Amino acid sequence: MVSQEQKSVDVQVEGCTYPVVIAPTLAGLGASMHVVGKPGRVVLVTNEVVGPLHAEDAERSLGEAGWSPIRVTIPDGEDRKDLHTWRVLVEQILDCGVDRNTPVLALGGGVTGDIAGFAAATVLRGVPFVQVPTTLLAMVDASVGGKVGVNTERGKNLVGAFWQPRLVYAGIATLETLSEAELRCGLGEVLKHTVLVGEAEMQALEIDACALANRDVARLTDWVGRSVACKAGVVAADPREAGVRATLNLGHTLGHAIETVAGFGEIRHGEAVAMGLVAVTRFAEARGWTAPGLARRLSSLASALGLPTQCPNNLDHGALCAAVGFDKKRSRATLTLVVPCAPGRVELRPLPVGEVAELVQFLF
Ligand SMILES: NC(=O)c1ccc[n+]([C@@H]2O[C@H](COP(=O)([O-])OP(=O)(O)OC[C@H]3O[C@@H](n4cnc5c(N)ncnc54)[C@H](O)[C@@H]3O)[C@@H](O)[C@H]2O)c1
Repeated sequence: MVSQEQKSVDVQVEGCTYPVVIAPTLAGLGASMHVVGKPGRVVLVTNEVVGPLHAEDAERSLGEAGWSPIRVTIPDGEDRKDLHTWRVLVEQILDCGVDRNTPVLALGGGVTGDIAGFAAATVLRGVPFVQVPTTLLAMVDASVGGKVGVNTERGKNLVGAFWQPRLVYAGIATLETLSEAELRCGLGEVLKHTVLVGEAEMQALEIDACALANRDVARLTDWVGRSVACKAGVVAADPREAGVRATLNLGHTLGHAIETVAGFGEIRHGEAVAMGLVAVTRFAEARGWTAPGLARRLSSLASALGLPTQCPNNLDHGALCAAVGFDKKRSRATLTLVVPCAPGRVELRPLPVGEVAELVQFLF
């Protein structure tokens, strides 16, 4: 049962429905677990940063609802989201004496969710999975949609699966311990979702942007719900990323290139996406694909959210062009660019690799 303080967004995907519960704290986690199954063992996967901050709250709530959590801690960091960490984790999960009904619960950011989810998808050919996201980015994006996986030496997220969670439970109070920089990253994805939804949503964000940047809890709760609803709609329409789900890559073609050239971790993902979103909109305006004015609005919104809108000058143009040219979504000599034509209207436009240099100029 969802209490009055909580709200819940349903994600309907491939014949199943799961709730994304947005609650003030982790206190209601255990009670929400009834959708997963009868209480028993649950493997709680967290990392060395989030565990000491929030695992006890999660464990207490699970215990009160009759669950017996067994905590497994993985290393922190994108550079540890790899096959080695996954391999150690699956052995640890097996050592917990799991059966096919034992849930694996991820408590942490997108990295923990992606690794634990891939472990849940693969241990015993799949056990129930629960996401308890503790970064804004994971709440509004990574925990919803069922993409799980790890990086390899050849690139990001190249090994993985689609494995939907049975429950996503976001306790907004966990964001209190999140750094400003990580909060901003999540706001970058909120901005992206807002453009995908439409004009009224953009106007609402224009009103709320400063409050969000200042961590207003009521506004954060509201916008986590709005953003999840946006992602849930896209995922429901295209669970396996065969079509419309590609629109979620808005701002990401340039964003990934910035992350690659700057060196992972130097410029954070959400910041790079914001720069990419503004630049691709400016480019689209110059080409006449987008009515003038949207880029300026997006740039103001990004600034109000505390996000950068221009790429640092020291990033090498040539390297950025090369990185865009190697984008995963490239087919032969053409890129597929996600272009916002207007709030709520996004198009996929082919861009010959020979024209990438012109696109990259709009980052500066
Ligand atoms: N599966 C998907 O659909 C999807 C979508 C978007 C992103 N992702 C993935 O998500 C990852 C990025 O996620 P992220 O931004 O959450 O990064 P992250 O998981 O690395 O978290 C960022 C940092 O914040 C720390 N942290 C987490 N919660 C905290 C809290 N409440 N208080 C203090 N510190 C906290 C983490 O330990 C980490 O150091 C990337 O690997 C990306 O590929 C996946």
